[in-house]
Amino acid sequence: MSVHLVVTDADEASRRRWIDALSARLPGATIEGWGDGAVVGGADYAVGWKADAALFAANPALRAFLTTSAGVDALLANEALPRALPIVRIEDGGMGAQMAEYCLHEVIRLHRRFGDYERQQRDAQWTPLDVEPKTAWPIGVFGLGVIGTRIARTLAAAGFPVRGYSRSPKRIEGIECLDERHGLRAFLAGTRVLVVVAPLTAHTARLFDAQRLQWLARGAWLVNVARGGLVDETALLDALDSGRLAGATLDVVAREPLPPDHPFWHHRGVRITPHVSGITEIEVSAAQIAAKLAALERGERVGGLVDRSRGY
Ligand code: GLV
Repeated sequence: MSVHLVVTDADEASRRRWIDALSARLPGATIEGWGDGAVVGGADYAVGWKADAALFAANPALRAFLTTSAGVDALLANEALPRALPIVRIEDGGMGAQMAEYCLHEVIRLHRRFGDYERQQRDAQWTPLDVEPKTAWPIGVFGLGVIGTRIARTLAAAGFPVRGYSRSPKRIEGIECLDERHGLRAFLAGTRVLVVVAPLTAHTARLFDAQRLQWLARGAWLVNVARGGLVDETALLDALDSGRLAGATLDVVAREPLPPDHPFWHHRGVRITPHVSGITEIEVSAAQIAAKLAALERGERVGGLVDRSRGY
């Protein structure tokens, strides 16, 4: 395929890995890195997860932007992004399995009370604790895209009752699927672990505010693997301090990296990881991007085409 690609947005070593992985799958394509010295101009497609204004100025004939990230909020927030440029998201890219493991790890830690045992060990205390049946641990998965569905299925397969919420109606075997017709309150009621895995859009920004956090079961736990911007962090801290929520596992926060003086770091109810719940796997994703490019070149529809009015 004789297309011209500009690979943007990663550090130099990772840009190189993307270029190598894409070159192996797209023989005949010209693939250059943005930021590798000379300005790349005249490309047909851009590949990456964000871009600077100069890239769009130098490449006015881009036919699509193929993202290496599942979330496109950073790209859509870019004022230089041409209005009509199609954006095609990576769908999963190896992240789904990792994020499902991450969420299952956190849920099992809570259910089996491993956090309590960590505290006991610090006090040299040997006390077996009761474990409730899994049926007493309803889990809510907010967002049922490719990744959310994988997480929901994994938790359900482990024996937990799982309820999912999506904007439009979904049917997934073994998951109680709720949507806007039922409302968030019905979804959150009784939920003991809320997994947030939806895109950050105008619709979801700070959605989990003081009131909605209150709708969860008392002593619930929040696991955010999506974007920090979906949660009102002041309201979250208040809910943790008052004991309304027992804790939160935050792989993402509104400001990344989390500033050293942020109260989340040392809060006893908060567990922090540095945005690593699902890392894009370059080989898997390069194969997917190459397939999407070939389909675009043939004029076919591709999965993952972003609807700008929805923001995902
Ligand atoms: C990571 O956060 C992604 O959107 O892929």
